[in-house]
Amino acid sequence: MKKKFISMTMAVLMGLSLVACGSGDDKPAADNKDAAADNKDAAADNNTGDSAEGDDSSNESTPDDSNPDEGSSAEVANKDKPLVWFNRQPSNSSTGELDMAALTFNEDTYYVGFDANQGAELQGTMVKDYIEANIDKIDRNGDGVIGYVLAIGDIGHNDSIARTRGIRKALGTAVEKDGDINSDPVGTNTDGKQSAVQDGSIEVNGKKYVVRELASQEMKNSAGATWDAATAGNAIGTWSSSFGDEIDVIASNNDGMGMSMFNAWSKDNDVPTFGYDANSDAVAAIAEGYGGTISQHADVQAYLTLRVLRNALDGIDIDTGIGTADDAGNTLSEDVYAYNADERSYYALNVAVTADNYQDFTDSTKIYEPVSNQLDESAHPSKKVWLNIYNASDNFLSSTYQPLLQNYDDILNLDVDYIGGDGQTESNITNRLGNPAQYDAFAINMVKTDNSASYTALLNQ
Ligand code: BGC
Repeated sequence: MKKKFISMTMAVLMGLSLVACGSGDDKPAADNKDAAADNKDAAADNNTGDSAEGDDSSNESTPDDSNPDEGSSAEVANKDKPLVWFNRQPSNSSTGELDMAALTFNEDTYYVGFDANQGAELQGTMVKDYIEANIDKIDRNGDGVIGYVLAIGDIGHNDSIARTRGIRKALGTAVEKDGDINSDPVGTNTDGKQSAVQDGSIEVNGKKYVVRELASQEMKNSAGATWDAATAGNAIGTWSSSFGDEIDVIASNNDGMGMSMFNAWSKDNDVPTFGYDANSDAVAAIAEGYGGTISQHADVQAYLTLRVLRNALDGIDIDTGIGTADDAGNTLSEDVYAYNADERSYYALNVAVTADNYQDFTDSTKIYEPVSNQLDESAHPSKKVWLNIYNASDNFLSSTYQPLLQNYDDILNLDVDYIGGDGQTESNITNRLGNPAQYDAFAINMVKTDNSASYTALLNQ
């Protein structure tokens, strides 16, 4: 009863604020014509939210239609609905500082990602171990310098920054900047003179080698999409044509870019390439000379992303089906995730995938067995979730994460609308959240980690 009262009050307040704001500067939803066209499934059958946020005069009468009793979510204000950020942690893209306002938006707000530092260290160590184990053949031109190139995903994304640092730390090429390892791209550094890195050294069997970051750049395309695989394919083309015989190793912040470089050049030239994500195609390529990758346990992350929403919607302890078994027997052990209460963040743990164990990782879309039990629909009734993927072309999110989410949504009785963004602008996505009132919960993957307010503004309306 109390909830209903609150929602009625909210409806009245929303109405009043609309009158007060008029068609004001409600940027996130301003282009609602696109929204309606783009998202027929999600928004076509209920336009009240669209009209409330936009200034499309043809919809003027619709606020009267918004009956707060309609639909399963009508009783809860949008700002109080469960919200999970995933894959891109709300944070300052220059300093990495967490955006605690976004992470504590309401009492049912969480972040789900993975332990970026642990994964970065694993990736760096994996590359270093490979070099040491293959020292006899790694220095292709025999000049005593082990040269590597590095594909950087997004210079403002903390996962990308951590991976760049992990590689430089392990290979001895790191230099300090503001108390941490410099993660800036160097451009080209064939002479070893760039200041963002230094030459490292490695000693194997009593012989010393120089390790040099020959080149690195952010793989961003001209339209602004980051982690861009095609850009990485072009970059290796440019690099290899000017100093190809110096390139002994390729490191990439993810498999999408890594595979693009592998297919464009390194496979044919027997240059080991290391990525991150353990996408199925990359794991399969290990049999053909791809050096290795890191599983960020997407099977656990996708589960957690939907599980925290399920628990909040059921009004039960957030640890249910996570650290504590649920009524269907689902539970996660501590070796696959960690929860940081201060950061309101769940972090999956990473595993290195190399020639030694890749057979266990061939299908990246397979759900994690300990959390594969169907929830009973009478105790956990179907709920509607709005979920976006920041870039529908992102290899990891589209080929690994989303298929996993789609497997778990059935198990958790969640009816999820999946929205794919263009990887460039937040509004391309927010325009398609025309009517949040239609949903019980939200799962958000921002284009840029600074942009949480583009979403919370919509939920606050
Ligand atoms: C993945 C990348 C992906 C990025 C998108 C990272 O965690 O490793 O492959 O492009 O997330 O945000």
